[in-house]
Amino acid sequence: MKAVAATEYGGPEVLGLYATPKPTPKPDEVLVRVRASTVGPANSAMREGRPFPVRFFSGIRRPTSIPGDAFAGEIAASGREVTRFAVGDRVFGTTAPDSGAHAEYVCVPEDGTLELTPADVSDAEAAAVADNGLTAILFLHDVADLQPGQSVLVNGASGGIGTFAVQLATHVGAEVTGVCSTRNVDLVRSLGAHAVVDYTTTDVAEIGETYDVIFDAVGRGSFAGFEDALNPGGLYMTTVPSVGIFLDMARTRLVGDRRAVFAATGMKPASVRKQYLGELRELLDDGVIRSVIGRRYPVAEIVEAHRYVDTGHKRGTAVVTIG
Ligand SMILES: NC(=O)c1ccc[n+]([C@@H]2O[C@H](COP(=O)([O-])OP(=O)(O)OC[C@H]3O[C@@H](n4cnc5c(N)ncnc54)[C@H](OP(=O)(O)O)[C@@H]3O)[C@@H](O)[C@H]2O)c1
Repeated sequence: MKAVAATEYGGPEVLGLYATPKPTPKPDEVLVRVRASTVGPANSAMREGRPFPVRFFSGIRRPTSIPGDAFAGEIAASGREVTRFAVGDRVFGTTAPDSGAHAEYVCVPEDGTLELTPADVSDAEAAAVADNGLTAILFLHDVADLQPGQSVLVNGASGGIGTFAVQLATHVGAEVTGVCSTRNVDLVRSLGAHAVVDYTTTDVAEIGETYDVIFDAVGRGSFAGFEDALNPGGLYMTTVPSVGIFLDMARTRLVGDRRAVFAATGMKPASVRKQYLGELRELLDDGVIRSVIGRRYPVAEIVEAHRYVDTGHKRGTAVVTIG
């Protein structure tokens, strides 16, 4: 089969399509014929091998595994113990914390983070949900336990995670404010945000509003930068790890009544990821959430897909189509 691989750590140009053996499912696994996957900043970070310690897992000299974790496609074969899925079923899910989805085929345990794709949802839309939808719901429901009537600020509301976060928080019944640039204000409003702050003209810290939850979906801010915009007992959550956030997490556990938290989809127990993907499937099927797809690229244009992501200004999710 064809799969994406990198010859070394570096810019988008290190990526290419190579022939590699098609995987064989174990007795409890299904073989998924991948039709769509996603590319985001986490893929760029792995491609660049930063921060350096990731290389202890991904290969010291060059990345040794096929990138990509979210996927949508159909079941091409199944192991002899599989009962939940049949060949031909359309499915979507994620291999996180592992990778391997930027390929024609990937093997996934049948009890992994895997669901049937709703009939009128495209593979591209489903893959976006399995990536950014899953991260957004884990932060808002599992970490923040968001409640109706709470006020939420979503920083990076027009990005991959942010576009889902706005919709999910609105659905809970929270009062949602999105932060984005001028060109994305209409998009963020259309997703249900009650208010939108244009970061190119307005500094959230200076408008005098305060929130119960600040979700830094794009991870460009800091706890210190947002602390004054948090209500007493408020929570700041970020998707991006840093020395600063780890120090803030330790400090805010001991001092003060505002908390800072970093969390990661791949660090959640598999049962939690699975539960929330099931909830997302229901929301998708009921038309409560939709995927915003900024751009689609055939996998042969994986270099261009990474270049788009590396601008730092992608809109919603970037999808690669395969086959
Ligand atoms: N912790 C986890 O489990 C986890 C999982 C997946 C991804 N991540 C990380 O989460 C981060 C966000 O991923 P993503 O795919 O959502 O990002 P993204 O889509 O690449 O973010 C780009 C979006 O952010 C907006 N933006 C850029 N600068 C901004 C600023 N200063 N203030 C507010 N908005 C700004 C851009 O809007 P404009 O174009 O309008 O500026 C654009 O729409 C990445 O670092 C990724 O690695 C973490």
